[in-house]
Amino acid sequence: MEPTAALQEPLAMTEEVLKLRAWKMPDLLVYQRASDEWWLTPLDDNLPLIRLNRVGIELLLAIDGQITVAVLLAKFGKWVCGPDGQTGQWHLERWSLPRYSLCYYGAEPPTTNRHGAKWDLLLQQVREGWSGAQGFEGEHHLSEFHLQDITSHDGHFDTIETTVSHLFREPCEALQGFTYGRLLAKHLRRLGWWTPKPRYLLEVGGGLGFVAREMAKELLPFERRGIRYVFLDITRPFLKSQFALAQEAGWSRSGMQANAEWLPLRDASVDLVIDNENLADMTPVRLSRHEVASGKGATPLHQEAVDWIRRLRLPLGHDLPAEFIFNLGPLRFLAELWRVLKPGGRAILIEFGIEEGWPAPVKLPGHTEYEVQYTHLRHAARWLGFQEQYVPLPQFLVIRPDTRVLCTGAAYTIQRFCQAEGKSFAIRAYTEAELAKTLGEMLPKLVGCHYHEIIDPAWFGLWDFKVLLLEKPGGPPRPSYRETKGFRWYSQK
Ligand SMILES: C[S@@+](CC[C@H](N)C(=O)[O-])C[C@H]1O[C@@H](n2cnc3c(N)ncnc32)[C@H](O)[C@@H]1O
Repeated sequence: MEPTAALQEPLAMTEEVLKLRAWKMPDLLVYQRASDEWWLTPLDDNLPLIRLNRVGIELLLAIDGQITVAVLLAKFGKWVCGPDGQTGQWHLERWSLPRYSLCYYGAEPPTTNRHGAKWDLLLQQVREGWSGAQGFEGEHHLSEFHLQDITSHDGHFDTIETTVSHLFREPCEALQGFTYGRLLAKHLRRLGWWTPKPRYLLEVGGGLGFVAREMAKELLPFERRGIRYVFLDITRPFLKSQFALAQEAGWSRSGMQANAEWLPLRDASVDLVIDNENLADMTPVRLSRHEVASGKGATPLHQEAVDWIRRLRLPLGHDLPAEFIFNLGPLRFLAELWRVLKPGGRAILIEFGIEEGWPAPVKLPGHTEYEVQYTHLRHAARWLGFQEQYVPLPQFLVIRPDTRVLCTGAAYTIQRFCQAEGKSFAIRAYTEAELAKTLGEMLPKLVGCHYHEIIDPAWFGLWDFKVLLLEKPGGPPRPSYRETKGFRWYSQK
């Protein structure tokens, strides 16, 4: 489907518009391709690169927040601004549109007290254009998207949904030279989760399989031996890649296409579950205050959600909004985990989420995900009988918060420049040194590369990602040991 934003007409240069001032989008990246040729990328990937000549780059530089659209038009309107022949007027009619998002026309500066609020608004419009719909897209939207709309894994995690584990899939400075999967396995070791050996390891929603591949590197061959690594994913094209990478890594692997909200597995059959960045993809329900108060859901799905709320005695608070999103899918998944885990079995669930309020939608190309309400999920986990621990992801992985990495938006832009140059460029979390090594002589031709501290919400919202560790009590006693001066002191727990 063509995104709705694509249908947008060029901006009419009315009297009103001409009076406005123009600001360049902050963080704009410009690539000097040749002595008289510069490239820019519109925000929407479906649009071709903007190629500018010297007049065009002068137009761009003139956009300084002081100048009005009228003056820009008078000065540059009739001149050809690039090798593609478009005039300054053509550019001025488009650059402020959400799909281009290269500049902003307004009476006031685009920043307000809430830093960057208007830029956010522009981006939001573009995101809504991507998803093709505003507001709630229905309870079945996410499962349908995964079952019907994803036909190939190629580029999916670069363009449709980038995950933390995808950004850190290769060894990187930001993770002390490790990959995400490897670091995860290290921290599972720290928790003692590899001893005794989990015979049945289930990875739910494994994406391309990088976490599996990298976790294998942390374990010695004898530690891996005897572990059955089983993938479960709703999206068939991803399973193929998961199998290939797991095989390459030496796992004894198998898998199935299924929805994790209904695990096709026997009771008490699984030792360890890895679920990385998948909960936000599970069924959301938009409930009304009236349904909760009356205990009567408008549909069977709503009734299921209302029944859960009552059964769990979920503390929803007194100021329930007239309508709100409830994470039904994650709750179903949790109940399924309780059923399929062996006594003593464990699960690690990682996803972005909130502790207060109601899950907000996160619009992504073609689909909308929903924040996880962790206070509710943790309450449900305890109600089911799990022992749970909860910690922000950067803290769990012990990531240095002040590590500076390339802005992800800049990475997408560089990828487009590279594609146009016939070079490959992977979307990852680059430090400055890593980017220099990757781009070589192309780097000095890029103006505007910018870096964020990993902790900065403007980078990837890493601090919003949380780790929920679950353990089903009742396993056999486990030997535990502490090490002092090279000696291991064993005890039974
Ligand atoms: C955002 S991706 C995360 C992929 C991978 N774990 C990573 O970290 O890059 C979500 C994954 O969960 C899968 N998925 C989404 N909804 C699911 C569901 N209801 N049941 C099983 N898998 C699901 C998707 O196909 C995809 O593999």
